[in-house]
Amino acid sequence: MSGGSYLMESEVEARRLAEQARALPVHGHLLTTGLAPGMRALDAGCGPGVITAVMAEVVGRQGSVLGVDLNAQRLAEARAHCAPLPQCSFLQGDLRKLELEDNTFDYVWCQFVIEYLPDPAGALAEFIRVARPGGRVVVADVDALGLQNWPLSPELEEGCRLFVSALGAAGLDLYVGRKLFHLFRRAGLEAVRVHLTPLWVVAGAADSRLINDWKQRFTTLEPVVSPAFGGTLGYRVFCEQYLGLLSDPDALKYSVLLITEGQKR
Ligand SMILES: C[S@@+](CC[C@H](N)C(=O)[O-])C[C@H]1O[C@@H](n2cnc3c(N)ncnc32)[C@H](O)[C@@H]1O
Repeated sequence: MSGGSYLMESEVEARRLAEQARALPVHGHLLTTGLAPGMRALDAGCGPGVITAVMAEVVGRQGSVLGVDLNAQRLAEARAHCAPLPQCSFLQGDLRKLELEDNTFDYVWCQFVIEYLPDPAGALAEFIRVARPGGRVVVADVDALGLQNWPLSPELEEGCRLFVSALGAAGLDLYVGRKLFHLFRRAGLEAVRVHLTPLWVVAGAADSRLINDWKQRFTTLEPVVSPAFGGTLGYRVFCEQYLGLLSDPDALKYSVLLITEGQKR
């Protein structure tokens, strides 16, 4: 990924992100990984600020949360969303090269961003640099996103394979979650722990939120992925098959979030 945007950028992305964030028990994830009142925290790749606001509620007025994002529009939404929370501030910037001092934060959180970065170890090194000694670095991301479904027709299985490899070629790693423990250990973090939690479990027909989430993903990713399907037509057939599986009352669909945390020496 390069420049001032990322692969999933689209006009409807802010709403998709906000709905996704609201569907997850983020508060519990933050507490489990050590966020506490009074802390100075960083939300790296904060998007529209839904999680930044939850972080601010946890740290309270004695603490502070800085949200960083590349995208000016996302930051404007985040500022508006967090306006009632004076402990929140925002900075436009690249989390791979933060214009922040070393040893600053008690807690660094980054969710659903590392999957887009070609050099996750570099981003992690940057999180570690800005965390204070003894501070926690926490990365939450997908693992095999959207690929744990049954039954799968051979056509759909092949379509999923094409989809994943086209995204991989564009720099999006849908398997990044499982790689984080190793990266954390190699980066010298201590007390590295991994929490596995559902992103969704749909035994039967998916609700409209999940269906719309996938419709939006498919539309946004069309320019990147459709060449792998020989063009838009082939890609749209795959998308319809996948959405059909999501609506199938007899099919199981699940996906996980892997949250990896470690402590800076
Ligand atoms: C999928 S969203 C996740 C937003 C939020 N963390 C959440 O969980 O709802 C990814 C966000 O990361 C931002 N982003 C992507 N690459 C970035 C980078 N290198 N530096 C800063 N922000 C980045 C995007 O602009 C987008 O807002």
